[in-house]
Amino acid sequence: NNYCIIMAGGIGSRFWPLSRKIKPKQFLDITGTGKTLIQQTFQRFSKIIPTENFLVVTSINYKDLVKEQLPELTEEQILPEPLRRNTAPCAAYAAYKIKSKNPNANLIIAPSDHLILKEEEFIRQIEKGIEFVKSKNALLTLGIKPCRPETGYGYIQVKRREEFNKLDNLYKVKTFVEKPDIEMAKVFIESGEFFWNSGIFIWSMSSIISAFETHLADIASLFSRGLKLYNTEDEIHFINKTYSECRGISIDYGIMEKAKNVYVLTADFDWSDLGTWGALYEHEDKDTEGNVIKGDNVLMYNAQNCIVNISDEKVAVLQGLDGYIVAESNDTLMICKREDEQQIKQFVTDVRIKK
Ligand code: GDD
Ligand code: MG
Repeated sequence: NNYCIIMAGGIGSRFWPLSRKIKPKQFLDITGTGKTLIQQTFQRFSKIIPTENFLVVTSINYKDLVKEQLPELTEEQILPEPLRRNTAPCAAYAAYKIKSKNPNANLIIAPSDHLILKEEEFIRQIEKGIEFVKSKNALLTLGIKPCRPETGYGYIQVKRREEFNKLDNLYKVKTFVEKPDIEMAKVFIESGEFFWNSGIFIWSMSSIISAFETHLADIASLFSRGLKLYNTEDEIHFINKTYSECRGISIDYGIMEKAKNVYVLTADFDWSDLGTWGALYEHEDKDTEGNVIKGDNVLMYNAQNCIVNISDEKVAVLQGLDGYIVAESNDTLMICKREDEQQIKQFVTDVRIKK
């Protein structure tokens, strides 16, 4: 009765130029393990979710990539989106489609591009989370202890601990703030009352449907119209039309910031979003100068605290840089201060306009 919805339609723009619209980071082997991030995600959840209970929601443009990288799945398990509308419509599509067959399912909704090192601990927490949402109308998310004032995450302030099956890491959420500015993020971190939202959600079917009906009624109404069409040959046509009428909004802004029944299971499973160059820099081993270097032919002179990503065919020589991202991919080279990496999203937009 448990399903896993993998969200794989993002373009990972803060990881530009390595992550490109044509092949975003969930389809790359970023950490060099031989498995792409979406393959790692699938394998991780396969330990507790039967293969037939996975759905991957992705852009129509990435459907073939998903097929190629997850040959275990059937074509029907890959839900193609005609337009990018962020994560709330993605979750609504998968949830209503599952509801049409199984109205009492429990859903794990997971990003496709995270790194998790302590897999056993992770799975243990997911299992606890599923038990919890079975008996409570709760929107549960997994929370991570924060270590820096990162502005790319959601912040969760906890209220009181809930007594549930002797769990000592389950809290009712007081406030949820998606992507605060740096000043606010610093205050949150100093207060010690906040966790990061991992973006991995566990909800029962009834709580997700009522959350959509309450907080995103327009989206609920659009996708619920398809209940008789899902899993029929009319589904694609219905979805194409629905997406063109649907606005784009994330689960975090659309539901988590507004709902009163948000809970968090806090855990330490060595998690990283790997959403940014900074996150990859934090994650990787550094040389004695504090540099992370990817590329066979990179020479560094008097350069410190940099993250460098250059394809093996190219030679790069860097001198006198401190705290920079130097990243290259095909026709594009970017040199950006590590501390200013949130601007990368803007670069991507500007480059697109220019080209
Ligand atoms: N199908 C589909 N369609 N998937 C999408 C879309 C879409 O339009 N947009 C994003 N995704 C996928 C991404 O590929 C990723 O796997 C996941 O949904 C989350 O989207 P991101 O764009 O990476 O979100 P974020 O990192 O900015 O923020 C979220 O994750 C943070 C932790 O990593 C939020 O949940 C934050 O609150 C959270 O802290
Ligand atoms: Mg992300």
